[in-house]
Amino acid sequence: MNTANALDLREKATAILRENDRGHYTVPTKGLYPFQWNWDSCLTALGLAQIDEARGWLEVETLFAHQWPDGMVPHIVFHVDDDGYFPGPDIWQTNRPTPTSGITQPAVAGFAVRRLYERAQDKSLAEQKAKALLPLIDRWHRWFFTNRDPHNEGLVAILHPWESGRDNAIDWDDALERVPTEGIQPYSRRDLLHADATHRPTQAQYDRYLWLLEHFRRLSWDNSKLHEASPFKVVDPGFNAVLLRSCQDLAVLAEALDEKEIARRNRDFAKRGLLAMEGLWSDEYGQYLCRDRVTGDLVESLSVAGILAAFASIPPSRAEELVHRIEQLSTRSHFLVASHDPADPRFDGKRYWRGPAWLIINYLIADGLTHANQIDMAARLQKTSLDLIEKSGFAEYYDPLSGEPLGGGSFTWTAAMVLQFLREEHPA
Ligand code: GLC
Repeated sequence: MNTANALDLREKATAILRENDRGHYTVPTKGLYPFQWNWDSCLTALGLAQIDEARGWLEVETLFAHQWPDGMVPHIVFHVDDDGYFPGPDIWQTNRPTPTSGITQPAVAGFAVRRLYERAQDKSLAEQKAKALLPLIDRWHRWFFTNRDPHNEGLVAILHPWESGRDNAIDWDDALERVPTEGIQPYSRRDLLHADATHRPTQAQYDRYLWLLEHFRRLSWDNSKLHEASPFKVVDPGFNAVLLRSCQDLAVLAEALDEKEIARRNRDFAKRGLLAMEGLWSDEYGQYLCRDRVTGDLVESLSVAGILAAFASIPPSRAEELVHRIEQLSTRSHFLVASHDPADPRFDGKRYWRGPAWLIINYLIADGLTHANQIDMAARLQKTSLDLIEKSGFAEYYDPLSGEPLGGGSFTWTAAMVLQFLREEHPA
């Protein structure tokens, strides 16, 4: 990309971050998502820090200020009242000083905070902020392995599709069949006021999302009980890769800050988890798959989660095989990386996580491949991502066949990822 175009994209991305900035947190987009979301905020902090380092740190601090006493960091913090979103605090009823949801999201904070720290110009601010965040992120990691890996398998389960960050992925379809819908309170969705129904999860899926929520609410959100009680328990390779990478990054950061115990513990989590990840590998499909922890079976669903696994330090031969998978996908859809393989009849290029490409996923995969020395594919992902933005603007997600922008517009983490990609391509 030439310098003039890069400058133009940088200006537009910066304007979106400013527009969605609420002072101490950022909304993913106006209307559709009017609160603070967990992994959105951590990734957004990287873009914010390119504009104002202190503001980048504040984004993560605000999220962790709402960590639960048991160590969980919730997926949404409801800083303000806004009835444009469903389900709101009245449905979650988590009984927190500032209302939050009762489930979590991909644990990308360890990665984000190490990156903020290492790229900081203001070293003394960075040291002070990282020191304070370190034990909080460590607590969250411990929470995961205590509550979501009670039988010490090395990997954690998600108990609700929303926890994965890939809300309506095809990966969950079979497991959701086991979730009943009887008895849920009548409700009216608000997402359809802001977005096209054919691009969003179906009603049948929404009913099951709500059933799980009400089930956990009846158990008073007691995390020591939820894993056992949930009919939905899936081990997602992408989700685990994000957590394991964050454990590794937190360990490196802890060493730099002389917190030996935190470093040791997080290295152990990462080591055990990476060994267990091998159990999710499928020779047949050449990528990782989810495992349904209720049936014990691998889920035959070729989603991007199995490629996002490259974000963790998987063996070099696996990273190479994942590069082949991306090459294969590129013959089926021009815009990388489709969230589901277009060769599967269940693929839907416009419906949220059942096919569309997402910029954050490209960024995380590209970063993992860079670490695995798969430089060519990492560079290709960077280029195709920026081309897509030039063509289609800063959307929530994109049809991987046509590049059509879909979902919410002026989207925060898309803008943050653009700033990050531009930083690699045109270092200031
Ligand atoms: C959707 C996405 C999720 C994201 C949230 C806010 O629910 O699936 O990953 O965190 O929107 O952008």
